[in-house]
Amino acid sequence: MNIQTVFRAPPAQSLDKASEFAADVIAGLTNKPKSLPPKYFYDHAGSALFDRITGLPEYYPTRSELGLLQKHSVEMVSLLPPAAALIEFGSGSSRKARILLGVAANIEAYVPIDISGDFLREDAAKLHRDFPHLAIYPVAADFTVTTDLPAEVANMPHGGFFPGSTIGNFELHEAAAFLRRAGRVLGPGGVLIVGVDLAKAPDILYRAYNDAAGVTAKFNLNLLARINRELGADFNLAAFEHHACYNIDKSRIEMYLASTKRQKVRIGEVTIDFRAGETIHTENSYKYSIESFQALARGSGYAPLKAWTDGLFSVHALRNAAD
Ligand code: SAH
Ligand code: AVI
Repeated sequence: MNIQTVFRAPPAQSLDKASEFAADVIAGLTNKPKSLPPKYFYDHAGSALFDRITGLPEYYPTRSELGLLQKHSVEMVSLLPPAAALIEFGSGSSRKARILLGVAANIEAYVPIDISGDFLREDAAKLHRDFPHLAIYPVAADFTVTTDLPAEVANMPHGGFFPGSTIGNFELHEAAAFLRRAGRVLGPGGVLIVGVDLAKAPDILYRAYNDAAGVTAKFNLNLLARINRELGADFNLAAFEHHACYNIDKSRIEMYLASTKRQKVRIGEVTIDFRAGETIHTENSYKYSIESFQALARGSGYAPLKAWTDGLFSVHALRNAAD
């Protein structure tokens, strides 16, 4: 295939997506205990706040993973097939893909998949300016659902990229289901490069999710701001607090929004009651060991090829062993 200049913008968010958001929010807030799906953190404001988190002194995962990618990108990319399409799940700003694309003569197309459609569009356009010979096909979609790739890359060999330890935001059964679905997207023998945060001293983890500048708190509270913006709700953000703790038994960070007082919140026709101190569980961030992640990968149909680590974070190359 000839290398070509292609950049296709994904379509804007549909009305269906808005009603799915409303239904998920009402279901989560009428649950006991209350919870909200973490994928809704990422509207445009949430994606920009996550970008600020990645630069915080306390948030080591991004620095660690960038270091590993910079050091080992040539070896990582050499595991991908020739003339490949690189499929990235949860691409965000595509900052990490840039490192692989910068050393890869074997990548002909890039397919960033992200739920944050506006952010995806902006970053794909920037990437197109910097990599004018790369074919870029952004897909604005939920990667837990979509298995359809753009027709243009259907007949190319695929490599997968899932950095950021976004896999840690899944429950274990969801992570296994994701890996299996990604395996079907990549095809038999396809290679997936995945970033996974490691379990470590609780104080390091605590600080990473309770930064002094309060950016993680803003990121968490933006979920309520988004519900106000998009669903016309009347959350008083000043009456909710960010909480994050490390649950050692479950090897995960847990994030909550806690109501500082007894209050009622209206979302359209629905009224939600909060007790003083009542929490909304907004995110889990599971921390693995190299071995526990490789066991999960094996159980999900992959053969681990190699793991790179700096002791804080790990990047794994996995080969899809399922036919
Ligand atoms: N890969 C980037 C961003 C990680 S943040 C990095 O490593 O820095 C997680 C990213 O996944 C965000 O860009 C978010 O919008 C996206 N995301 C989260 N849940 C998603 C879902 N269900 N489907 C598609 N994208 C999702
Ligand atoms: C995207 N994800 C892996 C981040 C994490 O560390 O779990 C999201 C995040 N939440 C708070 N800070 C960062």
